[in-house]
Amino acid sequence: MRRPIIAGNWKMHKDAKETTALIEALTPLVKDAKAEVVFCPTYVNLKDAVTQAEGTNIGIGAQNMHYETQGAFTGEVSGEMLKAIGVQYVVIGHSERREYYNETDEAVNLKAIKALSLGLTPIVCCGETLEEREAGNAQSKVVGQIKAGLKDIDDIEKVVVAYEPIWAIGTGKTASKEEADEACGWVRQTIQDMYGKDAADVVRVQYGGSVKPANIAELMAMDNIDGALVGGASLTEDFAKVVVYD
Ligand code: PGA
Repeated sequence: MRRPIIAGNWKMHKDAKETTALIEALTPLVKDAKAEVVFCPTYVNLKDAVTQAEGTNIGIGAQNMHYETQGAFTGEVSGEMLKAIGVQYVVIGHSERREYYNETDEAVNLKAIKALSLGLTPIVCCGETLEEREAGNAQSKVVGQIKAGLKDIDDIEKVVVAYEPIWAIGTGKTASKEEADEACGWVRQTIQDMYGKDAADVVRVQYGGSVKPANIAELMAMDNIDGALVGGASLTEDFAKVVVYD
């Protein structure tokens, strides 16, 4: 049985006070969640978030990391630095990073390998654009991203994948539960082709893209969907209704 994992990606939202206040407000509301619960605030608020979440069932994740340990990489943060302040998860290869910061599948792969070596759980993102879907290329895009992004991984069981169709992110347009389940199935099948069925059976695959209280239950009822990566709907106390969806 795969334990569901629901993660809130706060993107570039919330200052220090707002970050700890939201964690404080959500703590009692999510304490009985069956799912693993993860909040991903901005880098500067991670340490406060870790402190605020101490002793709760909330894990804290970063939204990115560098694959090198240290060096002349202005503006970057290493996995070691995240680990040192108690961060447990890291989102890797979000479509916004791929689009605005030229993050490649190769970089995603290096980051995932590094995160795992440090004991951080990588949440590796993939997903197609609307153009790719309309041209019938959604599957080949997702399979290609997984093959390149997840190659040569030792601890594949510990990887979490987030399938996020770009056309559904922040648009209010959710993939239908069938579309989402089918694409999460492509991810699982690709992992099976690469690492075998035992691995594919335990890797958790999240859906992301306009997930909200009104659609989380139907998405979670699908066979291949093991959780959600949530942007907009994770920014208020209403996120509790996504986390505790049943
Ligand atoms: P959204 O974002 O829930 O606001 O669509 C999802 C994401 O980018 O992870």
